[in-house]
Amino acid sequence: MSGNSLYSARDPVSTVPVEKTKDEGAPGEIQVENGIIVPEGWEQIFHFLRERRGGMVYVVGGADRGKTTFCRWLTSRLTEIGTTGFLDCDIGQSTLGPPATVGLALYSGSPEDPGATYFRFVGAVTPSGHMVQELVGALRLKEKAREEGASYIVADSPGWVVEPAAQEFHVRMIDLLQPDVVIGFERGPELEGILVNFRRHPRIRIFECATPAEVVERKRDWRKLYRFQRFSEYFSCAVPHARFLSGLGIHGRIPESFCDDAWRDLLIALCDPEMMVVALGLVDRLDLVTGTLSFRAPPHDAHRVATVHVGSIQVDLSNPPGRVSQGARPVSWRQSTLSEGEDQSPPARASPSPGARADREHHSPGRSGTGS
Ligand SMILES: Nc1ncnc2c1ncn2[C@@H]1O[C@H](COP(=O)(O)OP(=O)(O)O)[C@@H](O)[C@H]1O
Ligand SMILES: [Mg+2]
Repeated sequence: MSGNSLYSARDPVSTVPVEKTKDEGAPGEIQVENGIIVPEGWEQIFHFLRERRGGMVYVVGGADRGKTTFCRWLTSRLTEIGTTGFLDCDIGQSTLGPPATVGLALYSGSPEDPGATYFRFVGAVTPSGHMVQELVGALRLKEKAREEGASYIVADSPGWVVEPAAQEFHVRMIDLLQPDVVIGFERGPELEGILVNFRRHPRIRIFECATPAEVVERKRDWRKLYRFQRFSEYFSCAVPHARFLSGLGIHGRIPESFCDDAWRDLLIALCDPEMMVVALGLVDRLDLVTGTLSFRAPPHDAHRVATVHVGSIQVDLSNPPGRVSQGARPVSWRQSTLSEGEDQSPPARASPSPGARADREHHSPGRSGTGS
């Protein structure tokens, strides 16, 4: 998707924009740039990339390790010396687009506004069960960045790193994306199961960064609320649409049932012929008699839409996380996306608690959605 009809790039997590004002310390000292602690190792990575005159960086680490802050800082620095793409692969805590998307923002000359942004839809807020969609989306956006002349690409990644499926996910991301540099953010040897696979790689250089002490840890509820706010913001200008499906591709996690409950609030992506997101939508209804899909979406160019990608979550924007409402439908076969894995805790039990339909992944019986 070209243009800025989703979000412009920014760091909603840190309230501190990455800018150029610095407290220049003595050599070897930690520097502070607008409140962000910049360890010496970060500068070394920047100098390494500058010497290379280009390259792709893949940043990996658990939740709350300072990955995104580092990515924004590095993107900002690299933008000073060449066109740089920020590839946001963290579909749960996205900073470029709404959750469930992989995003690319291209910066030339100024870190303030991206010249262009592109999004691919994954359809879920965790790669678990959606690895193919995420891998393909990330690769296509890397190719797009190269086509658009990016010298540098900085890829942020999901904080889901501990369980074997998570390690396999990152190993395959690195294998597929073929970054020149992998940077691990860790508090201990927690990334070894991933990094060891590339220690003998003839070309990939690994840097390991200790998590800065200043990194603020957030609770799972904070992350759910953050996702809810991102979706709310994205759909704040949504208007009703109705589309005949005839002639359009439709694919993804199409519900096995045609009952209204299975479709209502389902997150979908309207995509162009290259499968870049034109707009996300929330389904109101599927009318099988007329073959019409009714949904809410921000205004967009309907002529560009070639396919509808059906996601795996239903997003009820009337129910913020934690609010208990009366009379919500019991949906016993749906599973909460609380079990997104980034917290490295056991998956949450399916919890069809009243008022918790927002941001919930649905899995019909017999359809494995965990991928692990
Ligand atoms: N180097 C740093 N200096 C100061 N604050 C930081 C630094 N790195 C991270 N933080 C703060 O810690 C929090 C989590 O950091 P974040 O980069 O979002 O982690 P992650 O992407 O690994 O989940 C944010 O509020 C951020 O502002
Ligand atoms: Mg992050």
